[in-house]
Amino acid sequence: MRYTLMKPCSPLLFPPKDLVLEPVIALVGKANACLSRYDGLLESLVNPEILLSPLLMKEAELSSRIEGTIATANEVYQQQAGEEFEPEKKADIQEILNYHNTLRTAGQILAEQPVSLHLIRQMHEILMQGVRGKGKNPGKFRDTQNWIGPGGCSIEEATYVPPPPTALNDLLEGFISFINIQDDKLDPIIQTALVHAQFELIHPFDDGNGRIGRLLIPLFLMKKGCIVSPSLYISRYFEADRDTYIDKLEQVSSKGDWLGWIQYFLGALIDQAERNLQLVRQINELYETKKRQISELLRSDKSIYILDMLFDSPVFGANEVHRRLDIQRQRAAQYVRTLKNAGVIIELRPASGRRAALMSFEDLWKITDQQ
Ligand SMILES: Nc1ncnc2c1ncn2[C@@H]1O[C@H](COP(=O)(O)OP(=O)(O)OP(=O)(O)O)[C@@H](O)[C@H]1O
Ligand SMILES: [Mg+2]
Repeated sequence: MRYTLMKPCSPLLFPPKDLVLEPVIALVGKANACLSRYDGLLESLVNPEILLSPLLMKEAELSSRIEGTIATANEVYQQQAGEEFEPEKKADIQEILNYHNTLRTAGQILAEQPVSLHLIRQMHEILMQGVRGKGKNPGKFRDTQNWIGPGGCSIEEATYVPPPPTALNDLLEGFISFINIQDDKLDPIIQTALVHAQFELIHPFDDGNGRIGRLLIPLFLMKKGCIVSPSLYISRYFEADRDTYIDKLEQVSSKGDWLGWIQYFLGALIDQAERNLQLVRQINELYETKKRQISELLRSDKSIYILDMLFDSPVFGANEVHRRLDIQRQRAAQYVRTLKNAGVIIELRPASGRRAALMSFEDLWKITDQQ
């Protein structure tokens, strides 16, 4: 079948030539300063895995929401604690969980390998695991023409028609070369901005391009050594004003306005790095405060494990504790009671029949909900 491309493909000449960065130099400086301040905090964390875990789940919620997913991070934990949900909600929860797992797995792989097309396909495969809808083609680049526009629009009405499938190979090779380029003159944050937009322009998958492109942002910043772990998430910023995010990408695809996109991206990065700095500080403080409180309350050699469990699963079933801590049921029940009486955790849902009570570590939610 032959399609007429509705929009010129000139922005796909990548990387854009003769880009004059003069107007954004001050912003680049500010973004780098914010990022290195944030990274300094990340490096000082004693147990980043545990402390950053709630932010990662929140990012998974926010990035998936851009796609229209309406479940929350809280519901993901509820499901993990055995709560039952309607099939629609279950599918949304699955998408959030997939996003979370994709970032975790890709982060681990990237600690040892360069970014590759193989990795991007692997990421897509995890992202699309068990999700509804036909034509998701997990882990496969598209072999048909796609287009972007208002839901259900025809190709003629599209706001952007990505390159034909026959052009994908070359474009993706060029994309990966650009990602792995070693060029001291190229600022890594500018490079990140270009990487995200170019990925969206190529739109190599049938679905999930937005999410994979957004996942690449923290992963790439980590790979470039800007942050020690892939934990700077920009989806909140994009989601808060989705129209502007899409419009800025559209300006690249329709007019080749890379500078406008870079400017917007730098603003997003500065905003989110500053926000993350506050969030991670607050989470760290909460950890230290609760460490003291729980240790005094329980006077147990398991205190630290309970503390870590609260940060790793801020919603959990009261009956899980004994298994997770490998202690007797009675002892676990007593710990839960003590923590509840002291207000460290609250009962989200009381026990009913054979279902155990669902507990929540609200103080942590109060912080991550600001993300
Ligand atoms: N005009 C455009 N030019 C380039 N990219 C665009 C344009 N409009 C939207 N996009 C990108 O395409 C993404 C949507 O593509 P797709 O549905 O494949 O991704 P998704 O991950 O399933 O969805 P979403 O990004 O909405 O979560 C948007 O998030 C955005 O990143
Ligand atoms: Mg989609």
